[in-house]
Amino acid sequence: MVIKKVGVIGCGLMGHGIVQVAAGGGSTVVALESEQRFLDAGLARIDKSLSKLAEKEVEKGKQTAENAKAWVAAVRGRISGTLDRKALADCDLVVEAIVEDLPTKLSLFKELGSICKPSTILASNTSSFPIAEMAEASGRPERVVGLHFFNPVQLMKLVEVVRTPKTSDEVFAAARAFGESCGKTPVACKDTPGFVVNRLLVPYMAQALSMLERGDASKEDIDAAMQLGCGYPMGPITLTDYVGLDTTLSIIQGWVKRFPSEPAFAVPRILEQKVKEGKLGRKSGEGFYKWEGDKKA
Ligand code: CAA
Ligand code: NAD
Repeated sequence: MVIKKVGVIGCGLMGHGIVQVAAGGGSTVVALESEQRFLDAGLARIDKSLSKLAEKEVEKGKQTAENAKAWVAAVRGRISGTLDRKALADCDLVVEAIVEDLPTKLSLFKELGSICKPSTILASNTSSFPIAEMAEASGRPERVVGLHFFNPVQLMKLVEVVRTPKTSDEVFAAARAFGESCGKTPVACKDTPGFVVNRLLVPYMAQALSMLERGDASKEDIDAAMQLGCGYPMGPITLTDYVGLDTTLSIIQGWVKRFPSEPAFAVPRILEQKVKEGKLGRKSGEGFYKWEGDKKA
């Protein structure tokens, strides 16, 4: 099965990146948002990112300025935006990247099951929820997979391709090939909490926040320790800001509810407090650090 037309639902931190890499891989992409202002913001981020990537190619001497400009125009030309879910009806693949809230995702999958043509593959970019539950909600569980991209999508090389016991071989292979067409290396994962990366990464981030809460070290020192001591590109507190405090909290809260006896899953109070204060990280301009656009202030 060849994927030519892709729908991406949610054009936020992750969705805008998925739209961009899918179009970069040659697909025609429809980006769907809930409000025009969010759609405009997502498309503006794509424009900025494409310009930056083109600029770097020229700087490195990999492309002429003229070719880079033509590449940006071609990728951008494959992207359109909409607020109308019916525009997804004829997509070969729809990737959901909306808020990390299970009831909202379940109702979306139910609706997609009735809107999309029978052959459409439905995928979720969820960080933590069971793909199987969304698959059942859609009414076409054999055509549902997880396609878990990483932040920032334009730069991170991995995509986790998650299959449930009901995902068909054909759908899994098509999803994997789509990930490759986006320039990513796919890894196959079972439908377990957090798949591979987040099962390891999120408890580590939560431990770092608990360390901060206890006053064991300052946020700057925790970050410096993991960058310089382990060679991580970002420390865990900066990474929490980067991922979004609301998303990180939803992931951990969901796991605590489902797996109350698993000691690796615990909600740091400091995280709950910041979210209550509306400090969501890079996307709101402040989390544990202050941010100016995409950079730490
Ligand atoms: N598009 C185009 N260019 C971009 C970009 C984007 N989206 N994001 C950053 N860049 C550019 C920057 O503008 C910058 O360009 P200049 O050098 O010209 O200034 C360049 O890339 C490098 O970026 P930064 O200066 O911001 O800094 P960096 O060298 O630290 O690289 C990084 C950034 C690649 C994000 C790196 O810090 C990194 O790998 N961090 C870890 C990210 C990570 O762990 N992600 C996974 C999060 S968990 C997840 O995603 C799963 C989940 O479900 C929660
Ligand atoms: P975000 O808050 O930046 O973006 C979500 C977007 O979805 C918003 O722009 C919102 O307007 C839109 N939206 C919400 N409900 C919608 C609906 N019903 N229809 C259309 N649009 C809707 O969140 P994000 O960080 O991009 O996360 C999106 C998904 O990706 C979540 O499931 C999250 O767990 C997952 N994810 C996040 C990261 C990360 O680092 N932030 C990494 C990998 C996966």
